[in-house]
Amino acid sequence: MADAVAATDPATHARAAGLDPARLPRHVALIMDGNGRWAKKRGWERFLGHRHGADTLRTITSECVHLGIARLTVYAFSSENWQRPAREVAYLMDLLAEFLRSEVPRMQENGVRLEAIGQLHRLPAHVRDALSDALRMTAANTGTVLTLALSYGGRDELVDACRAIAAQAARGEIDPAAIDAGSLRAALYTAHDVDVVIRTAGESRVSNFLPWQAAYAEFITCQPLWPDFTVADFLRCLVEYQGRERRFGLVAPG
Ligand code: FPP
Repeated sequence: MADAVAATDPATHARAAGLDPARLPRHVALIMDGNGRWAKKRGWERFLGHRHGADTLRTITSECVHLGIARLTVYAFSSENWQRPAREVAYLMDLLAEFLRSEVPRMQENGVRLEAIGQLHRLPAHVRDALSDALRMTAANTGTVLTLALSYGGRDELVDACRAIAAQAARGEIDPAAIDAGSLRAALYTAHDVDVVIRTAGESRVSNFLPWQAAYAEFITCQPLWPDFTVADFLRCLVEYQGRERRFGLVAPG
């Protein structure tokens, strides 16, 4: 995170940005795309874009704290990302461990609670250690929850949930006929519905991110590459979100 968040109250801050504080999303999900292109444009190795992407993540997390947004979930490393060149994967893992170790003091200062979802057992030991320390140290914080999706794939999440429910059924703990949406939700990595998914770098794909939780989310695409994405861009996305009419499958009123 950047510095400790300024003292303006969240509603005043939201109004100053042209937002209705009563209709802010409770849960924002971010697909942080374009790091490679950002570095390539500068003639750098593509993975150097991830380091600048980590700075953007700090800034946007602080803005969520400032606005009083309850949850921010970010796609930091997908199941498919393991197939990237070994050097890029190693760089990302080291960056992640460094981020987890260096950000805890500011998370504490800003009341941010860290969570993580995904097949975390696939992460290397030094990342798992840094992650478990950061999770433990921020566990009592009551502000914005920052969830890192790591080694995350939406289909993997659904498969893992089905396996967990099937195992419960095999042990006789649940009647297959009684399985409903609530049973599946409870078996997911996270049960929290997403209000808006924001993807940078002009891409409009969902890319296997939170298929259950984002089933009724608004999807917003914006042009900046992730390392160039600013607080002003983020606020514009939230203004666009507030301009959408959310129907949840119902008919429009009037
Ligand atoms: C997509 O850009 C981004 C990723 C695969 C990783 C996202 C990671 C970060 C923003 C690093 C910071 C995160 C933490 C938690 C330290 P891309 O490489 O696919 O970009 P491209 O589409 O331009 O190639």
